[in-house]
Amino acid sequence: MRTPGTLPDVVVVGGGIVGTAVAWRAVEAGLTVVLLDPSPGDGATHAAAGMLAPVSESWFGESALARLGLAGLAAWPRFAADLLRATGLGSGLRETGTLVAAYDADDVAHLRRWLALHAELGVQPDELTGAQARRREPLLGHHVAGAAWVPGDHVADPRATRAALDVALHAHPRAAVVQRAAVRLERDRGAVVGVLDEAGTLHRAGAVVLAAGWRSGELVDVPVRPVRGQTLRLDAPPGSAPGHVVRGRVQGRPVYVVPREPGTGSGPGTTAEHREVVVGATSEEGPDDHRPSAGGVFALLRDARALVPALDEAAFVEATLRARPATPDNLPLVGPTATPGLHLATGHHRGGVLLAPLTAEAVVAGLTGAALPDALRVADPDRFAPVLEGA
Ligand code: GLY
Repeated sequence: MRTPGTLPDVVVVGGGIVGTAVAWRAVEAGLTVVLLDPSPGDGATHAAAGMLAPVSESWFGESALARLGLAGLAAWPRFAADLLRATGLGSGLRETGTLVAAYDADDVAHLRRWLALHAELGVQPDELTGAQARRREPLLGHHVAGAAWVPGDHVADPRATRAALDVALHAHPRAAVVQRAAVRLERDRGAVVGVLDEAGTLHRAGAVVLAAGWRSGELVDVPVRPVRGQTLRLDAPPGSAPGHVVRGRVQGRPVYVVPREPGTGSGPGTTAEHREVVVGATSEEGPDDHRPSAGGVFALLRDARALVPALDEAAFVEATLRARPATPDNLPLVGPTATPGLHLATGHHRGGVLLAPLTAEAVVAGLTGAALPDALRVADPDRFAPVLEGA
């Protein structure tokens, strides 16, 4: 524990995968850290499937985001290895590649347009016929008309990763976790000098890192809004889960199916051979009320079983809704701001898990006065307007 009475170097607001990764890398870099969150891990991280998929999630007009995502993916293996060394706990990283499936002829036309996008990124997924795709993934449904193979898009387990980060922080002598909400940033002559929590305690520190997901906009004036995502968790017996991540379009609707390792199932009757399968995700503008909708759950199940019919055999474990923090250009806000003492690590939208390790490196670089990784230039927190404290 920190010596009582000494000022920590950093207060991190937000205990999702991004905030805890920042806090852990910061203590590893020799800083003292207080992490503030009333319910660590219960934001977007709780719903996230853990796609590390910069290629299969890329889209027209978003090449800067795709390049950032590729840099984020490259940071993952070292992050997972360091976390395993520090805690003995895995992060569920599976480097298995991703199959992108197209259900009908219109979905295949869409897939071909999407494939044409990749030449400029220097990554070229292989187009497969339906039959070739079924040879790679035998549980793929017979109606699936076409596919592409993205060998470099992988997956991690966000809940397992965050739990490991939690263990690393709790064990660390320079870290403290305080389970309270931040209500206001404390300012002094234009600089941010601490955070007031809901119990009235002022946490003064050398710097504040705001990693509070879509709630970051409640503390400072940043254009971050909630975009709701629903995911489902299934307990899949042997023979009902695909071996790879399958993401696809079914009559125009995007869906993904993410299998974890055997032994990750849950609920009564699960065995060491069962796997957790995550099906996701909706994307809806709106408030984060934590309540999945009947229509969202229905659509995800309908489209997932169109791609992988054997999922019918799986037990339904959980439906979860949390909101992602989205920005106007879908790029995150990472690094020091024009306000002295204030650093941001928010706005990661669909890429919080993918970008957590790289974000942590960048924020620690900003806190210690080192240069930020080049890939993060596009994530300048002041690119919309200088960040000012909200009312
Ligand atoms: N990156 C997956 C999602 O946001 O649903």
